[in-house]
Amino acid sequence: MRKLSNILVTGGAGFIGVNFIRYLLGKCAQTSNFKGRIINLDALTYAGNITSLKEINENFEETKYFFEKGDIGDRTLVEKIFEKYAIDTVVHFAAESHVDRSILGPEAFIKTNVLGTFTLLDVARNIWKDADGVLFHHVSTDEVYGSLGETGYFTETTPYDPRSPYSASKASSDHLVMAYYHTYGLPITLSNCSNNYGPFQFPEKLIPLMILNMLEGKALPVYGDGKNIRDWLYVDDHNSAVWNIIQNGKIGEEYNIGGDNEWENIKLLNVLIDIVAKKINKNAETIRSLITYVKDRPGHDRRYAIDCSKIKRELGWKQTVSFEQGLERTVDWYLANTEWINGIRSGEYKRWVEKNYGER
Ligand code: NAD
Ligand code: DAU
Repeated sequence: MRKLSNILVTGGAGFIGVNFIRYLLGKCAQTSNFKGRIINLDALTYAGNITSLKEINENFEETKYFFEKGDIGDRTLVEKIFEKYAIDTVVHFAAESHVDRSILGPEAFIKTNVLGTFTLLDVARNIWKDADGVLFHHVSTDEVYGSLGETGYFTETTPYDPRSPYSASKASSDHLVMAYYHTYGLPITLSNCSNNYGPFQFPEKLIPLMILNMLEGKALPVYGDGKNIRDWLYVDDHNSAVWNIIQNGKIGEEYNIGGDNEWENIKLLNVLIDIVAKKINKNAETIRSLITYVKDRPGHDRRYAIDCSKIKRELGWKQTVSFEQGLERTVDWYLANTEWINGIRSGEYKRWVEKNYGER
């Protein structure tokens, strides 16, 4: 029986982590059946935004929700947190997550994704020893599998073939997780998910970047020929899968999570333009004229497509939010949350983007 009483969520101030904490303590508190405490360890890098958890903090601070600012690679701190809160479960989201940044500066990716994951695993192994009911769940990406041609899908047995410093660092972390299971018997589960979208996503990723640029009348930069394909999943559906694995997943197993929802970037962008145009009462063709084809991302993977039949079959998970619904919700959220957007755009992010990309 898993304890699930004191859950260390790493990276809980980032896009998916914030939504995971809000999922467990907020909107799905009734159905998720979660009765424990969440300890959020986050370094608050440019991508971490603690104001995204304002309501959670107001309602649950020091009862069901605790925040610790710090680096997952800081062994002393991680050990202290394990002891202080009697951590019995780790849900490891913390990472450097943006492919473009990994191309411009890979070092942070190695430090956090590889060495940081190593530190967490090693502390868990040393403190838990042979404890019952403990679990280390590692959140990873479909990018570890490389790039697909026009047909085929990534399954859990597809060989790893990462192409970017980001995906190589995530592949490396996945291998360490599996090594700790096989070598030391650390109880782990691992998930590899496709592209997430939804509220609180940092506007360097395709969907929020495009929404905000549309609202500001800026160019919509499409890499290469715009025909690269991604499989999109609403963030709550990813988190319901993670929660399902944490409760029911088999120790030592890897689960693919996806949307069964492949889109060429340019087609997705055109759908998004129609949604935004309708919501802000503007001519869609005026917005479409902002589309600008730009130099391709180096090593740009052509197509990702996930076969998620294993988690559906074995754990009974399924997606619940259609792409249309999810995009509508996402656009509504960005339209309603200008304070959040202004907050992150005025800080480190803006300076970094301007320095590396110029005005976008
Ligand atoms: P994000 O970049 O939005 O958030 C990452 C969070 O980790 C931030 O809050 C940041 O402050 C924190 N962090 C970074 N380095 C840290 C460190 N050294 N110590 C402590 N905290 C640190 O990322 P995201 O999109 O929420 O992704 C979360 C996880 O899910 C990542 O592991 C990513 O690889 C994986 N994933 C993401 C997607 C996606 O589409 N976004 C899809 C599949 C898997
Ligand atoms: O597949 C899962 C991965 O999805 C996660 O592991 C990553 O953390 C997450 O960032 C995401 O990676 P991508 O590189 O697929 O996401 P991104 O939003 O950066 O880009 C999506 C697609 O859109 C990709 O083909 C590149 C293209 N793109 C992106 C940006 C930012 C553009 O054409 N223009 C852009 O400005």
